[in-house]
Amino acid sequence: MTAALDEEHGQIVASMNALYDAVDCGTSLSFQRLKMHAPESFFRHNCLEEETMMDRDGFIRSRFHKEEHRSLYIALHALETAILADNQGNVLKLLDKLRDALISHVRIQEVADWHRGCQVPGAAEY
Ligand SMILES: [Fe+2]
Repeated sequence: MTAALDEEHGQIVASMNALYDAVDCGTSLSFQRLKMHAPESFFRHNCLEEETMMDRDGFIRSRFHKEEHRSLYIALHALETAILADNQGNVLKLLDKLRDALISHVRIQEVADWHRGCQVPGAAEY
């Protein structure tokens, strides 16, 4: 399951970059909406898996990590709304901010790393 989280983190970053390129190149609104679907579904799936893992195994920073997920969900919704409004300048601004926040969130990999540590006999709690 931890390897799957790592893979999903990579997919989130790659799909955010693809969405950024689609918007930056001025592709059609329908294509941008299609490109928005990938990072959103990868992120939601990843959060669900992480939150299930945190609840099951008692991750000490669970509340803070979940709050960060909620804040990113809100930013994703704002981005989707901006895409639907077809305002490229605003979309790029929001996308830049969200991409950095998402990359920063998944780069920390605190849940995956903590879970790896849990699987090593005698490993200290994170
Ligand atoms: Fe997370």
